[in-house]
Amino acid sequence: MNLLACSQIHMKNLIVANWKMNPNSQKEAKEIFDAIRDGVKGIKSEVVVCPPSVYLYASVFGEGVVVMGGQNIYFEEKGAFTGEISAEMLKDLGVEYVMIGHSERRKYFGETDEIINKKIKKALEAGLKVIFCIGETAEERDAGKKNEVLERQIKIGLRDIENLKLKIENCAIAYEPVWAIGTGNNCSVEETKESIDYIRKLIPENIKVLYGGSVKSDNSGAYIKDAGANGLLVGGASLIPEEFIKIVESAE
Ligand code: PGA
Repeated sequence: MNLLACSQIHMKNLIVANWKMNPNSQKEAKEIFDAIRDGVKGIKSEVVVCPPSVYLYASVFGEGVVVMGGQNIYFEEKGAFTGEISAEMLKDLGVEYVMIGHSERRKYFGETDEIINKKIKKALEAGLKVIFCIGETAEERDAGKKNEVLERQIKIGLRDIENLKLKIENCAIAYEPVWAIGTGNNCSVEETKESIDYIRKLIPENIKVLYGGSVKSDNSGAYIKDAGANGLLVGGASLIPEEFIKIVESAE
C-alpha cells in the first residue's frame, strides 16, 4: 500500500451540514440541531453543522459531539467593515470550522479566487479549520473546461499558504459541481471519482476531499465508498434531521 492510500484510510470522514440562510427562528434551529446531535451520538465521522452566524452562539447549541462551523468570514481582522464578521470572532465563540468559497458566495456576493485566498489565509491564521468549496458551472463543464477551472480555483485559493507556514492540512476541499447544487441532479459517482482523483493530484495528500451537490441518503454512501471522497457537504438535506442522520450513517 502506498503512503497516499495509507494516509487516506486513516482519515476520519467529515460530514458537513450547510444550512445556508435557514431556518428563520432560533427555536427551529435548536430543534433541528438537537435532533441531529442526538442522532449522531457514537458516530465515527466528524459532524460539523454550519448554521447562519446568528445561531452560532452557544445558548442555541450548547455542548455536544457535533462541531460548529461558520458559513463565511471577512478577510480583515476587525474595523470599519459594516455587516461582516471576522475569523477571530468565530474562533472566540468556540467555532472550529468555516466554509469559504461556496458557489453561492462566488455567484451572489462577487467572491473571486483572490478574495477566497485572503479569507482562507485569515481563517487559518486565526486557528479555524477551512472547508474550501470549489466546482465548475454547467457552462464550464459543457465547454470541456472542468479540470482547468478546478485547477485555477485550487491554485489561487491555496496560494502562499505553505509559504506562510499556515497549516494546509487544516483545509478540506469540498468539490461541489455548481450544476449539482440544490437541483436534485447529483453528480454521478463515476464523474465524481474522476474529479476527486484529479483534485488529489493538485493538493498535498493530507487534505480531505469532500463531495457536495444534491446529496441524499440514497446516494451518499457511494461517494465515500466508490468515489473515494473523505466526506460530504450537505445543503437541503441537512435541515431534515432524519435524512441527515441517515447520510451520516451511510458514511460509517
Ligand atoms: P445541496 O447543497 O445539498 O442542497 O445541493 C449543497 C451545498 O450548497 O453545499
